[in-house]
This record gives sequence, C-alpha cells and structure tokens, in this order.
Amino acid sequence: MEKTGVELKDIANLCKRRGYIFQSSEIYGGIGSVWDYGPLGVELKNAVKREWWKSMVYDRDDVEGLDAAILMNPEVWKASGHVASFADLLVDCLECKKRFRIDKLEGKDCPECGGKLTEPKSFNLMFKTQVGSVEGQATDVYLRPETAQGIFVNFENVLNSSRKKLPFGIAQIGKAFRNEITTGNFTFRSREFEQMELEFFVKPGEDEKWYDYWVAARLEWYTSLGIRKEHLRLREHEKEELAHYAKRCHDVEYLFPMGWSELEGIANRADFDLKQHSRLSGQDLVYFDDAADERFIPYVIEPSGGVDRAVLAVLVDAYRTETVRDRKRVYLALDNRLAPIKVAVLPLLKNRPEIVEMAKGIRDDLRGDYRAVYDDTASIGRLYRRQDEIGTPYCVTVDVESLDDGKVTIRERDSMEQDRVDVSRVKEVLRERLCGL
Ligand code: GAP
Repeated sequence: MEKTGVELKDIANLCKRRGYIFQSSEIYGGIGSVWDYGPLGVELKNAVKREWWKSMVYDRDDVEGLDAAILMNPEVWKASGHVASFADLLVDCLECKKRFRIDKLEGKDCPECGGKLTEPKSFNLMFKTQVGSVEGQATDVYLRPETAQGIFVNFENVLNSSRKKLPFGIAQIGKAFRNEITTGNFTFRSREFEQMELEFFVKPGEDEKWYDYWVAARLEWYTSLGIRKEHLRLREHEKEELAHYAKRCHDVEYLFPMGWSELEGIANRADFDLKQHSRLSGQDLVYFDDAADERFIPYVIEPSGGVDRAVLAVLVDAYRTETVRDRKRVYLALDNRLAPIKVAVLPLLKNRPEIVEMAKGIRDDLRGDYRAVYDDTASIGRLYRRQDEIGTPYCVTVDVESLDDGKVTIRERDSMEQDRVDVSRVKEVLRERLCGL
C-alpha cells in the first residue's frame, strides 16, 4: 500500500500538544471516535469552511447558502432510503465479542482472536433520539446522517425565495452523525463530523456535463488549499460500490498515512431524492422551465466533502520535519489563508519593559488586520519552535537593538530566513507577504 512518510500518531500528538484537536470528554476516558477542536483547531476548521463557502457561494452567481436543522421529520429518512438501507452488515465474534463489518473481513474467523463469527446482521448507522416531553407520546427522530436532505426538502423554498433558474445549487455546511463501526485513524472516521455539501440542480440531459465540471472543480479546490497534487487523485466507483441513490460517483482521494482514502464524493444523484420527496410528502417538486415551457424533476450533482477529513489532509500534507543544527525541527507548512495565527510578535527579553511595550504595540497594530499574538512565555528558541509547529507563517522579534535603530526582525517559517525591517514598515511588509490577507 502506498503511504506518505508521516504517521497519524505524529499528527495526533502535535494536535493534542499544541491545541488543534482533543479527544472528546477525555477526563472521563473519552468516547469512541468523537473529537473536540481546540483553540487552533477551531481556527483551522473555520478557515477551511470559509474557503469552501467562498468558492461555492460568494464566487458564483448560481449557488445560494442554507443552514437547515439537524433534526428533521422522520419521514425524510424513509423517503431518502436511509431507514431501509443506510446500514452495514456486521458479524460478532463469539469469543472476544468484538464486532466487524463484513466488507472489511478477509477470512471467515475473527481477525483479532481467531474465534468463530456469528451470521451477519444489518446495523443501521443512524443515531436515534426522541422529540416530545410527554411520556409515551414521544416521536423517534434521527440525528441527520448527511446534510443533503435538508437541502432537498428546502428545494422549493430556496427556489421561490431566491428566484433562481436552473442550473443552480444550494450549499450547506453542518454536522452529521453516524454510528460508525469501523473507527480509528484519528478523526478520519468519526461518529460526529461536519459535511460541506452542494446540491446542484440541472436539467436532465445536462447532468453528465455538470458532473464532469464538478469532479474537476472539486479536485482543483483541494490543490488550491495548498495540498500537493501528487497526494490527490480521483477514483470512480464501480457499479457495485455505488450508493442506492447514485448513477455515478467519483471520490477525491488523499494519500493519508494509512493509504489512499476518500476526502469527498461527487455523485450524480439523478432525480432520486426530489422524486422520493414528491412521492412521500405529496408536494409536487416539479420545476417549470418557462423558456422551454417544460415541466420536469431536476437532476442533481452532489459534491459532498467532509470538513474533518479536509482538515486532517491539510495537517498531514503540511507536516514537515528537518534537522537544523543537529536538532529536529517540526513545522506545519500551512497555506497563509489557513494558518490559525498569521503573525507572532516576540520579545527577545521579557524583563525589559521597553522591549515588551514595543512588541505589544506592534501586535496591537497588526491585530485589526489579522490574527496576531504576543508571546513571552519562553526563550526565543522555544517560541520559534512553538510557532513553527503550529504553522504561523511569520514571527516578528523585538530585541535590544530595536530600541536604538527602530528595526525589528521578520522571520519566515519555512525558510527560517530573517530580515530587519523598520518598525513603521512591518504592517506593509507583512501585508505584502501574506498576499493581502
Ligand atoms: N450526501 C452524500 C454523503 O453523505 P458520503 O460519501 O457518505 O456521502 C460524504 O459522505 C463525505 O462526508 C465523505 O466523503 C467524507 O468526507 C465525509 N464523511 C462521511 N462519513 C464520515 C465520518 N464518519 N467521519 C468523517 N467524515 C465523514
């Protein structure tokens, strides 16, 4: 199996140590495959979502946004096919009691202890909860396993209120929940995760053309985040692999440490969902094309990505190590737009009030433009190491000489190159280097 040199445990260690990602409820021993994003993780995740929203909604005329609720009328999941078929076939080991997905097993016996396995049972991946406060009258509802259905059931609302014409899309970012059986690989397969989904509605017959368009556009988006091209590929689903709703599907895959794995799926869902919702809700979700005087149910092309997987791929791809003066240096070569902190202002000596004052003044001046922090909690070497490891593109250092010549050092993360710049020009120089962020 092809692999990168990076190990997931290195990424998980860095994430915990530096405040990117923590195990959920850790002080209670955690909960399987549920993760919390720390002070830096929330910034990185927000930046990834911001880039997606910008490219899907703000940079286009044919897409509108939506934020639908997680809880929905349970009929939605009957119409979508999730109640009947969103399930894995599982077997249990009669000896060690562990549970396995049948499609992941190689032999007939338990892969852990060699024990005998039960007959396969179907296990629905949706989490169930209840709505209603009256005992005995509560209704079973599901935590949505995909955000897509919130878009389909709002198709008419968005169409009518935004006065859009086909082809047009609805974009949404939000939480989804799946009671996954095969977990592990850090955040890759979580039980609670976020999706970034676009449902792009087109005239039947124009679907293949738009499908090709979105497959190419989505691959390109990942490279635009700074992920190396050679670590990305497209893979088309075999017929037997296709989800119940899909006519065709391509995955964008990333070369994770455990091998090539799915980042995003781009599916041609044809008219499956709108037809199903028309049938079960009794509402006619037909589109009227007034120019052609035609009525039809639109086809849908769906690029559906995972926020957490994009974040993980960005972290893995940015993780670099090198030896500098016999010491290992770890840094995250994050794209400037994604780096949680853009500039760290550091005093060489924290016991010199004039240096501290000058450094804090520079930090205050930069703050209005982007995330800039002041840090004096360690020696300069350690402070640089910390900023390298969290991916801060620039450090500004104030030293004793700065007090005399009014110049400070700007240090670049990847090359570690340093240059002296007049303090009055720091803002302008950084704006140029951060490409106008
Ligand atoms: N609406 C289509 C849909 O949900 P999917 O392939 O099941 O399709 C889309 O999911 C994307 O959501 C995946 O490509 C992946 O990035 C993300 N995803 C799915 N299950 C996930 C999980 N358990 N943990 C993290 N991300 C997940």
